[in-house]
Amino acid sequence: MSNPSQVAFVTGAGSGIGQATARAFLSRGYSVALVDRDVELGQKTQAELGELGDCTFIACDVSDESSVEHAVEAAVARYGRIDAAFNAAGINGDPGPVAEASSDNWDRVMNVNLKGLMFCMKHQIRQMLGQGGGAIVNCASSAGLVGVAGLSTYAASKHGVVGLTRSAALEYVRSNIRINAVCPGMIDTPMWRRSISPELTEQLLASDPSGRLGQPSEIAEAVLWLCSSAASFVAGHALSVDGGMTVD
Ligand SMILES: NC(=O)c1ccc[n+]([C@@H]2O[C@H](COP(=O)([O-])OP(=O)(O)OC[C@H]3O[C@@H](n4cnc5c(N)ncnc54)[C@H](O)[C@@H]3O)[C@@H](O)[C@H]2O)c1
Repeated sequence: MSNPSQVAFVTGAGSGIGQATARAFLSRGYSVALVDRDVELGQKTQAELGELGDCTFIACDVSDESSVEHAVEAAVARYGRIDAAFNAAGINGDPGPVAEASSDNWDRVMNVNLKGLMFCMKHQIRQMLGQGGGAIVNCASSAGLVGVAGLSTYAASKHGVVGLTRSAALEYVRSNIRINAVCPGMIDTPMWRRSISPELTEQLLASDPSGRLGQPSEIAEAVLWLCSSAASFVAGHALSVDGGMTVD
């Protein structure tokens, strides 16, 4: 499955799920714009993935609309178009119950996970409308489908991502732009390791159907499929990739 002329735009490409998906796009022959706000991680990723194909790091904070607009322009200036976009940039914020929620944490999480993702879609869609189509996958979470005690702000942002995805999909499916979401379960990434201790991980896995963490590459494969012509009639779907965690 090689797509020599295709171009992918991946946010959060400097780490974890975004990086693994950028790797998968490159290994399938896409050229890839690696978008991240962390310059060090972005440059390191470009150096590591460069041997797989043509990729360029573009510094961008998704919560800043002009930064997103410039990133889309820079990707198009470099590669001419954007066939596939994966919006994975995200943060989990501070844990805690709603009665202890802070306005600051709410703003930080929403600005990146929800408003930032909306800015990304807005400018990706404008480009795709001009070129005649494309595919967008937004990174939600199992916390976008079910409640998570102690992570209400994050869960609210990810439920928002699912709602935004479904609505945008309806707006643009007739314009040949398919928009879907992927909902990862517990995935072994730097974010997971930063926020969840090995002891808590063990506890969570004890009652989990699969009993293991997912790998970032397992999310990447789902994203690649959603972006491919094999998924040509899939629009507005929130695809769980969670080892059965959210099965009723
Ligand atoms: N790891 C999990 O278990 C899990 C589960 C469900 C959903 N997710 C989602 O997957 C996505 C990726 O998570 P991950 O686990 O790979 O995390 P990660 O921390 O390993 O990677 C996230 C990347 O996003 C970048 N980023 C953060 N804020 C940004 C901003 N404002 N602008 C641009 N880039 C920004 C970071 O620099 C980092 O490179 C997130 O949206 C996260 O919510 C993760």
